[in-house]
Amino acid sequence: MSDWTPADGLPPEVNPPGMEEIEDNPEALDQLLEKLYEERGIDFRNYKRSTMSRRLAKRFRARKVKSYTDYIKLLDKNVEEYETLFDDLTVNETYFFRNQTIFETFQKYLITIIKNCSDDNRPLRIWSAGCSSGEEPYSVAMLVDHCLLEQQKILPEIQIFATDIDQNMLQKAKEGVYPRLAVNGIPTEFLQSYFSLENGNYKITPSLQKQIRFEFHNLAHDPPFENLDIILCRNVIIYFNIGLQMEVLRKFYHGLRDDGLLLLGEYEVAIREGRNLFTNLHFEAKLYRKRQRKQGKSWKKP
Ligand SMILES: C[S@@+](CC[C@H](N)C(=O)[O-])C[C@H]1O[C@@H](n2cnc3c(N)ncnc32)[C@H](O)[C@@H]1O
Repeated sequence: MSDWTPADGLPPEVNPPGMEEIEDNPEALDQLLEKLYEERGIDFRNYKRSTMSRRLAKRFRARKVKSYTDYIKLLDKNVEEYETLFDDLTVNETYFFRNQTIFETFQKYLITIIKNCSDDNRPLRIWSAGCSSGEEPYSVAMLVDHCLLEQQKILPEIQIFATDIDQNMLQKAKEGVYPRLAVNGIPTEFLQSYFSLENGNYKITPSLQKQIRFEFHNLAHDPPFENLDIILCRNVIIYFNIGLQMEVLRKFYHGLRDDGLLLLGEYEVAIREGRNLFTNLHFEAKLYRKRQRKQGKSWKKP
């Protein structure tokens, strides 16, 4: 029986058979991750070892392989295996309005940001980092549009950057077409306003789509976008080791404006070292604000 509680992070994944051998071989795991990076530029070297070995165990089982040596031989003979391994190592699970109560809290803070942008007559700039197949940035775009109408505010421009390392997911996101099951979490009024029905699937309206720039961006290697009002990075850094988490938090700090907000995933926190960079605005919502070095615009709590 697991002792897991929500405070521990993501619920534990069940260890697949073959796990024991993998956990006993940290050096072989390092070598394999190094090989992936050197030969394919796929960099999982600073991801949590426990997640990597669990996911590798799944591949070993699928390919009926019992050792790292055999799996490396298989990779050398079968280049398509790299693709499947990449798919298994990246966790792409996502939903529209994931964790609805968090979105409700987020909306209150979003309204303040929108007001500030509108008062200053400047564009609203948002980054969804690790956007998977696009449900997160589209949810935010719908929410922004809804708030603008409700608050009767006008912005010169809305710029949403949505990035990921998984090209297949980015392609899906760009298409913006989702099956019935995927749109279940969307409020009916949003579904009616922001989607059209095409051959039984739901397609995002072009006016919303054109606010979002989907592109490849690796949080481990690439510089941040700049002058941002909001960064959403949910259910991504939980897979990184502490060193990489800190590196990414530093990038977010530099990417955000002085009054900028950071939204992490339900089970994520800005690690202890990150508290020099961010203050927690709302614990349950995992909403942070960039710490200010000098006096910036005052931030009214909604
Ligand atoms: C579990 S999904 C989260 C999707 C969405 N943010 C959400 O919370 O629903 C994690 C995403 O992070 C992406 N990812 C993993 N490592 C990354 C990296 N180094 N840079 C950018 N994206 C990464 C994965 O490809 C995957 O699509």
